[in-house]
This record gives sequence, C-alpha cells and structure tokens, in this order.
Amino acid sequence: MERGRSTRLLVEHLGEGPPPVVARAPGRVNLIGEHTDYNGGCVLPFAIDRVTEVALRPRKDEKIRVFAERTGAECTLAFPASQFRPTGGWEDYLKGILAFLSQRGRIEHGFDGAVAGDVPLGAGLSSSASLEIALAIGISRTYKIDLPDLELVKGCQRVENEFVGTSCGIMDQYASFFGREGLAVLLDTSSLAHRYIPLRLHGMSLLIVDSRVRRSLATSGYNTRRKECERALILVQKALPDRKIASLSALTEDDLEQVDPTLPPLLLARVRHVIGENARVLAAVEALERDDHRALGALLFASHSSLRDLYEVSTPELDFLVDWGREHGALGARLVGGGFGGITLHLVPDGIKADYTAGIVDAYRSRFGIDAEVIEVRPGPGAEELNREDY
Ligand code: GLA
Repeated sequence: MERGRSTRLLVEHLGEGPPPVVARAPGRVNLIGEHTDYNGGCVLPFAIDRVTEVALRPRKDEKIRVFAERTGAECTLAFPASQFRPTGGWEDYLKGILAFLSQRGRIEHGFDGAVAGDVPLGAGLSSSASLEIALAIGISRTYKIDLPDLELVKGCQRVENEFVGTSCGIMDQYASFFGREGLAVLLDTSSLAHRYIPLRLHGMSLLIVDSRVRRSLATSGYNTRRKECERALILVQKALPDRKIASLSALTEDDLEQVDPTLPPLLLARVRHVIGENARVLAAVEALERDDHRALGALLFASHSSLRDLYEVSTPELDFLVDWGREHGALGARLVGGGFGGITLHLVPDGIKADYTAGIVDAYRSRFGIDAEVIEVRPGPGAEELNREDY
C-alpha cells in the first residue's frame, strides 16, 4: 500500500490541520512453528508486504474521531479511557490500546485520526496485530509516551487477550513489530529474544491460499488446546520433578519415554507435536541457511501432518489444499495460524505459479463449492513511524 494513504484520508474526511504522526505495521505469515508460542517454543514468522497505516493529529479538546477506510465510517470516543468497554467492532483495538497506553503516560487531549490498510481481514494474516501495533506506535508518539519496544509488543498482546478477549500468543504482534524486509524472525518465546534469518526465495514464491472457511471452533478449539497443554505440563512436571520443566518446549524426544506412562494418549499427542514442531523450526533455519528449499518444503509438509494428526487443528478443506499442493509441484505446504479453517501457505517454484494458482482454485471449487483466494506474500519491513519526507 502506498505510503501516506492514511494522511490523505485524514485530510479528506476530517479536514486540514497540522502534520500528523504516521505509523504503519505489517501483517505476518508464520513460516513454521505452530502452536509453540504459548508453549515456550520457537516460531519463525515473517512480516508481509501488507500493512495497516494510521495518521493521528492532536486536538485541543478531549474528543477522539477516527475515520476507518475499510468501514467507510468515523468512530468517535471521549475520555476517560478507563470507561472504555469492548463492543465487538474494530474500535475495540483503538479503545484497548488507549486504555493500555493511558496507564503508561499522560493522555490529556484527544485526536483526529484515519486508518487505512491492505492486510486481508480475518484471513489469518494478523490484520488485528498490525492494527494494534500501528495504533500503539502512533498513539505513543503522539503523546510522547516512552515505551521500550518489547513492552509495546507485550502490551498489544495483552490488549488482545484482556480487552478484545481473544486468546493468542505473542508471535503475531512480535512479528509485526520486529519483522524486517527479506528476513524471517526466529523468536524463542521462552526468552523473548530473536535472531533474523535471511529468507532468500531464489525462484520460489510464497502463496497463501485462503480456504475462506472460518470455523466457530477457531476460538473454542484454540482455547481447548491451550488448556490441554497446561494440563500436560502439570503432569510432565510431576513425572520429572528434578528437571524444573518450565514449559513443554523444555522437553526432548528422549523425555517422551519417561513421561509416556503418565500422560493420557491425547495429551501425549499434543506434547509430541510441540517437541516435533520446535525441532522442525530449528531444522527449517538450517535449511534456509543452506538455501535448501526442498528440505524446507519437506518440513512444511511434516508440520501440517503433525498439526492434522497430533494437534488435531486441521480441517478437510485445509488438508485438501495441502494435499493438492503436494501432488501439483509445491515443495511444501501447511496450514498457518491457529487452524480450524483460515489459510494455508504454499512454497511453489516461480515457473508453475500461474498454473498452480488457477489449478488449486478450480480444484477447491469443484470439491467444496467455495472460491479460494490466492495471495502472494513477500517478507516485508516491520513496523515504523513515517517521516514527512517518506510520503
Ligand atoms: C494464532 C495465535 C498465535 C499462535 C498461532 C498458532 O495465530 O494468534 O499467537 O498461537 O495461532 O501458532
């Protein structure tokens, strides 16, 4: 999306005024490392070349007016932020971020703002994390609230968990903030430290195929998996009392033999996924470092099988898309995000991209009667505040 679109919207819809603070933040795709971020494990997401951008301009009174391009409507709020309550719309993110930041600094006047974006909504590309991060950067700069980067990222995750009411780990907000052009972010969620890994595509493309199926189970299923992992952790800690196991990701394949008799089969399957997925993240990093796309692709397929069979978060639609990919030239494919619907990621040679795209849409329509959407993504820059000369 062109830089500065939100500033033009601001002037068009709310009139002329002093130059605004402008911030933008991208959506993300997780290359590999699924359902590990709330288990102290590793993830390997990258920021994508789709963003949310906000432009904010202080007012003298306490009013807040924000025009959102996607709804075509203006939302108005008035302080105090402690009185804000979620109502189910996009404004919940605005209210939540304001409530969070007003605990960290003095927000004494209102603002006019505009929000623009091209991250597909509700598709599993973290449009909400990109909105939270863009708002948090924009509002903290507007009010000169000095917040360490990691505090800002954690605050956005908390807004999502506690204000908006969606359970999630920290991966999406982290990737949106810390992503960098051409790089994947290897994040260890137990230490919250990261390392950048070049994501060189060399003749390969990353395609997102959106199943367009949103399951109601997405929320309840995600929460159930989290609870299962919490239960498994308690049992594992009892089985290995000397090891001081802080998270399921501290376990190795060798530990499995010892914990096996103490865990019900279902919990054992969940633990097996977490251990295997962490190992696959590290193997994927090695594959990327060697530019070995075949090895990377095989790991993507293996991740999907584990999410399907051990973690049980796939659906017939997602399995179909991944299997079709395996049979039609993808080097790798897997479901991305929480599962129970949403998107799949496909690693595809450039040469077959056009036929692959047309073929998978046709096959999916014949099988399920649904028009899948295919979106090509590239590893794009992370969140930033724009300077006047930038737009
Ligand atoms: C969702 C959450 C993330 C992560 C994934 C599963 O996308 O927002 O924090 O838990 O599911 O890997």
